[in-house]
Amino acid sequence: MNQPEITAGPLLLRPWRHTDAGALVAAWADPEIRRWARYGAVLPSVESMEPWVSWNEEQWRIGGRAAFAIQDADAGLAGSITLRDFGKDAKGDGGDTAEVGYWIVPRARGRGVAPAALTAVSRWAFEREEDGGLGVRRVELLHSVENLGSCRVAQKAGYLHEGTLRESFRYADGAWHDEHMHARLWSDPVS
Ligand SMILES: CC(C)(COP(=O)(O)OP(=O)(O)OC[C@H]1O[C@@H](n2cnc3c(N)ncnc32)[C@H](O)[C@@H]1OP(=O)(O)O)[C@@H](O)C(=O)NCCC(=O)NCCS
Repeated sequence: MNQPEITAGPLLLRPWRHTDAGALVAAWADPEIRRWARYGAVLPSVESMEPWVSWNEEQWRIGGRAAFAIQDADAGLAGSITLRDFGKDAKGDGGDTAEVGYWIVPRARGRGVAPAALTAVSRWAFEREEDGGLGVRRVELLHSVENLGSCRVAQKAGYLHEGTLRESFRYADGAWHDEHMHARLWSDPVS
């Protein structure tokens, strides 16, 4: 199965394309995106786009990562949302929990893009595999306790705050940050 496209009102969540290179590099010029990245905090280049898109395609095929570009109504790049680590191991175990990460370009912030994309991608993640979803039971969302905007996104998309992890991740500033663990279960009420 190809990685699907997901619509969320005027937004389209779709697999990354080679032609996104310019917009992706421009997005990563934003210090806030780099500051709060939990993975891949290295500034991408136009040259690195082709292998990165191919890597995403391969990871989707293997099972374990679904990376989406968030496209605006005007077809511009509004952001990124990725589900990862939902792969099953060799024994077929695991695959019940995914982790989600996202960022929104500065011009598209403050109008609910991240919560809308998160709600839509979560709905798809919880759908049964036979219905075209991922069939996971739980999606986790981690953010630095200093990232109040991301905490608000989690709340708006129905991700409950389950606790605080102490010095659990070293962010781009080189410091170890405490993080909030939020999560949604497949059985949680739809927000
Ligand atoms: C955080 C981010 C994803 C929010 O995306 P968005 O599409 O603008 O989300 P929203 O439109 O819902 O707006 C953010 C919410 O957080 C609130 N918020 C933002 N900054 C805040 C701050 N410093 N303190 C308190 N609340 C804040 C806003 O008021 C808004 O809540 P409201 O709708 O109740 O007023 C976006 O700003 C971003 O990409 N930031 C940089 C990268 C990043 O932080 N990624 C997440 C890593 S875990």
